[in-house]
Amino acid sequence: MTFIVFDDQKIELSDGQTVLSALLDQGFDIPNSCQAGACQTCMMQVKEGEIPAKAQAGLKDTLKAQGYFLACNCTPQKPLNITACNAAKMRTSAKVVAHDALGTDVMRLRVKPAEPFTYHPGQYLTIWKTETIGRSYSIASVADFDHYVELHIRRVKNGVVSRWLYDNVAVGESIQIQQATGNCFYTHGNPEQNILLAGTGTGLAPLIGVARDALQHDHSGAIHLIHGASTVDDLYMHQTLVKMAQLYSNFYYYACVRKAERVSLPVTGESIQTIMMSVAAVPAQWKVYLCGGPNMVSSLKKAIFLAGASMKNIYSDPFITSHSS
Ligand SMILES: Cc1cc2nc3c(=O)[nH]c(=O)nc-3n(C[C@H](O)[C@H](O)[C@H](O)COP(=O)(O)OP(=O)(O)OC[C@H]3O[C@@H](n4cnc5c(N)ncnc54)[C@H](O)[C@@H]3O)c2cc1C
Ligand code: FES
Repeated sequence: MTFIVFDDQKIELSDGQTVLSALLDQGFDIPNSCQAGACQTCMMQVKEGEIPAKAQAGLKDTLKAQGYFLACNCTPQKPLNITACNAAKMRTSAKVVAHDALGTDVMRLRVKPAEPFTYHPGQYLTIWKTETIGRSYSIASVADFDHYVELHIRRVKNGVVSRWLYDNVAVGESIQIQQATGNCFYTHGNPEQNILLAGTGTGLAPLIGVARDALQHDHSGAIHLIHGASTVDDLYMHQTLVKMAQLYSNFYYYACVRKAERVSLPVTGESIQTIMMSVAAVPAQWKVYLCGGPNMVSSLKKAIFLAGASMKNIYSDPFITSHSS
């Protein structure tokens, strides 16, 4: 058992308890979303003490060096003196320049950050609705070619942030965003390598970002993109992807629909995994990107690894939400 000091208040931690859990138990309004080390909304800063390595996993070196850590992943063995993140330092405002429906429950949000905003297509940023309520969204635009940052937002029933973005945020307004992070992006230097991109729902956003980035930078290896959806109507970028496949001879698009009652080529009723295993039967040298629902990402990751893909070549972003665990 140990303790933390937060805002000069001493708080005991039970064995194995995270800093986030202890602070929430005490009634502090600490930002959090995934509670699994993925979204980085619970970032805090240490004033004194040793941060466990796990609590800094996934953070940029510059943030690590300044003592930032993720409260949901922090189970200290020794006392820690900590403070909240300086929100003003981490966030910037961004003007909404487009807000339009892409499908029944998915919208495209394009924003122009007020300050220089560096990112790799496929990474994710945090949108803050209030000082303490933030959610992650993946980036579909390509910084070198687009003059905006594009996000695809799925409307979640009773979702605090997604509903607000859908119903209350309009073109011309400004919202608060936080720097992009994540490892799911195209890396230059191996243009002949085959690429497999697979995802469900708005897991398509980072995959489109990665595919467009690779194509715009003359990637010559094959790029296979598989998008899974519940119904044909949920294939919210179908026409764009069909056109991309017509335009680029090395880009292949597969649409998998669970309820495939209105199937017409190139849409298939087969599962993502079936398509994935037939496209990348020998994936040892492939680069693989998996994004979207956590269960789907986890089973595809296992399958492609068992088929021979190297762990170092598999990049995944499970969209862990407050209901996932
Ligand atoms: C790395 C990362 C990237 C992400 N990228 C995207 C993206 O590009 N596009 C996108 O739309 N989302 C993305 N998400 C999910 C997003 O961050 C939010 O979790 C999502 O928008 C729900 O937030 P909310 O505030 O609307 O709902 P909340 O207020 O958090 O939840 C409201 C209710 O809905 C339930 N709920 C939440 N999510 C779901 C769900 N998916 N299915 C069913 N029930 C749910 C909750 O348990 C709760 O009961 C990403 C998440 C992560 C971790
Ligand atoms: S990283 Fe801690 S709540 Fe998401």
